[in-house]
Amino acid sequence: MSLLAVHEVTKRFGGLTAVDSVSFDVHEGEIKALIGPNGAGKSTLFNVLTAYERPDEGRVEFDGKSLVGMKPHRIVALGVARTFQNTQLFEAMTALENVLVGLHTRSRAGLLSAALYLPWTLIEEKRLREEAMRLLRLLGLEDHAETPAADLPHGLRRLLEIARALATGPRLMLLDEPAAGLNTTETQALANALFRVRDNGVTLVVVEHDMGLVMEVSDEIVVLNEGRKIAEGPPRLIQKDPAVIEAYLGEPVDD
Ligand SMILES: Nc1ncnc2c1ncn2[C@@H]1O[C@H](COP(=O)(O)OP(=O)(O)OP(=O)(O)O)[C@@H](O)[C@H]1O
Ligand SMILES: [Mg+2]
Repeated sequence: MSLLAVHEVTKRFGGLTAVDSVSFDVHEGEIKALIGPNGAGKSTLFNVLTAYERPDEGRVEFDGKSLVGMKPHRIVALGVARTFQNTQLFEAMTALENVLVGLHTRSRAGLLSAALYLPWTLIEEKRLREEAMRLLRLLGLEDHAETPAADLPHGLRRLLEIARALATGPRLMLLDEPAAGLNTTETQALANALFRVRDNGVTLVVVEHDMGLVMEVSDEIVVLNEGRKIAEGPPRLIQKDPAVIEAYLGEPVDD
C-alpha cells in the first residue's frame, strides 16, 4: 500500500491553475523526487500535501487517512514533516535548541511545563537532549550542537532544518529544494544525509532543481510542468523522456 496517495489534486489561484489534476503514490521507504521548471507548481503541491493550502479538487491520503482540511500541526502529529524553500530556523537558538523545539512537539512535557521546571520534566529534558544529539549526529552536525543557527554556514543550516523536521518523528518528510545554494561538497553531504534519513525509516519526497542530486538519490521521479504531471518513473527513464527534455528546454528537441 502507498504511504502517501495524491489523487487528481487541483489548486487554482484565481485564473491560474498552479496544480492541475496531479496524481501519484509514494511508497514506504522510497525517495521520490518532484521536479519541474520554475513555476511548475512544486511548492504549491507541497503546500497542499501539508495543508498549508486547501486543494480545489482531489484527495490526499496519508496511510489511508485523508489530510484535506486538517490543520498543519495535526498533519505533523500524524507523521508528516516538511521543510520550506526558504530556510526557517530559530536564528538565535543553538543547533541543539532548534532540534529540541521539534522534539517538544511530540514530548509529554510541553514547552510550558518545561519552562516551569516541574521535577519530572528534568528527566524528560535529559532524554530529549540525548535524542536531539542523536539526530544531530545522524545529520553530521554533532560538532555544531552549541553553535547558534545564525552562525552556521549555509550547507549546515539546510541539514539542521532536516534534523529539526526529523525531530517531530515523521514517517514521511517533504523537503523543498534542500540543495538550493549549496556547493558541490555540501550537496554530496546532503545526499549522504538523505540516505541516512531514509535508512532511519523515513520516506522522503524531495523537490529539487539540482539534477545531479535528483539522479543520485531518487528511486522515482515525478515531473511537473505548468501544473501538470508530464512524466513519472525511475531516473534513467526520466533523463531521456522527450516530454521532460522539451519542458526544460522550452522547445521541441530535434533528433
Ligand atoms: N499564493 C499564491 N497566489 C497566487 N499565485 C501563486 C501563489 N503561489 C504560487 N502561485 C503561482 O503558482 C504557480 C506555481 O508556483 P510554485 O511556487 O508552486 O512553483 P514551483 O514549481 O515551486 O517553482 P520554483 O521552482 O520557482 O520554486 C506560479 O505561477 C506561481 O506564481
Ligand atoms: Mg518552489
